[in-house]
Amino acid sequence: MAVEMPNQLLNLRTVSTAYGKGQVLWEIAFDLDKGDAATILGRNGVGKTTLLKTIMGQLPVLGGHIYWHGDEVTAMKAHQRSRAGIGFVPQGRHVFPHLTVRENLEVGLSALARKGFSGPRKIPDMVFELFPKLTQIADRKAGVLSGGEQQQLAIGRALAGQPELLLLDEPTEGIQPNIVQQIEDALMRVRKELGVAILIVEQNLDFAWSFADRFFVMQRGRIIKEGRTDTSPADEVASLIHV
Ligand SMILES: Nc1ncnc2c1ncn2[C@@H]1O[C@H](COP(=O)(O)OP(=O)(O)OP(=O)(O)O)[C@@H](O)[C@H]1O
Ligand SMILES: [Mg+2]
Repeated sequence: MAVEMPNQLLNLRTVSTAYGKGQVLWEIAFDLDKGDAATILGRNGVGKTTLLKTIMGQLPVLGGHIYWHGDEVTAMKAHQRSRAGIGFVPQGRHVFPHLTVRENLEVGLSALARKGFSGPRKIPDMVFELFPKLTQIADRKAGVLSGGEQQQLAIGRALAGQPELLLLDEPTEGIQPNIVQQIEDALMRVRKELGVAILIVEQNLDFAWSFADRFFVMQRGRIIKEGRTDTSPADEVASLIHV
């Protein structure tokens, strides 16, 4: 990219991804700026998770380009992207079951091995402020936690790496309702108080609409509609998402 714009964070240009011979993403293109909150919506199997994994570098692209702060990162490995400031909370959580809560959070600190990071390499207090439960269960093995606790841990682990962009894949899927509210409140604070940009795959349209400024609707591996949540009617978008 010829000119670096001061606010640009992530740019996708005609990104396509395949599993073997089966192409799943088709020429995805969008831009995220610093502090943006955007949601990816779409029915099951349209490629939402594949898109996040592609941004994270867990899947190679078939074609196209990904830029981070204006630099091409298309071939960069996932752990390098994590060190560059992209945090990921994958679908289905994936905490390390045999490690304690604290040890899981410490794994997240590996992202701080980034160029120019000079702060303390410790779990930020903010993680425990956002999720006070994690303090109480810090010495428990992650494998014995409830789904809601594991999700708080997975988000806390990503935040421990102090990302500039946080990718979240259906963070409240399968979580009991009282914890869902806690997670949504915490994400709202991450957005507003930490200024972290967020790209969230979300099935709950009400939450997605109140949380995000921008939305992308996917169908069969393409973005078929995008816009701002404050100027687009949610029910029009709902008809594109629900069967
Ligand atoms: N590891 C894989 N190997 C082959 N095909 C895959 C693999 N993972 C996903 N797919 C296929 O890619 C397509 C998109 O899957 P993806 O998981 O990205 O969808 P999704 O929108 O996240 O769905 P969901 O809402 O169910 O999470 C689907 O057709 C799926 O079957
Ligand atoms: Mg998915």
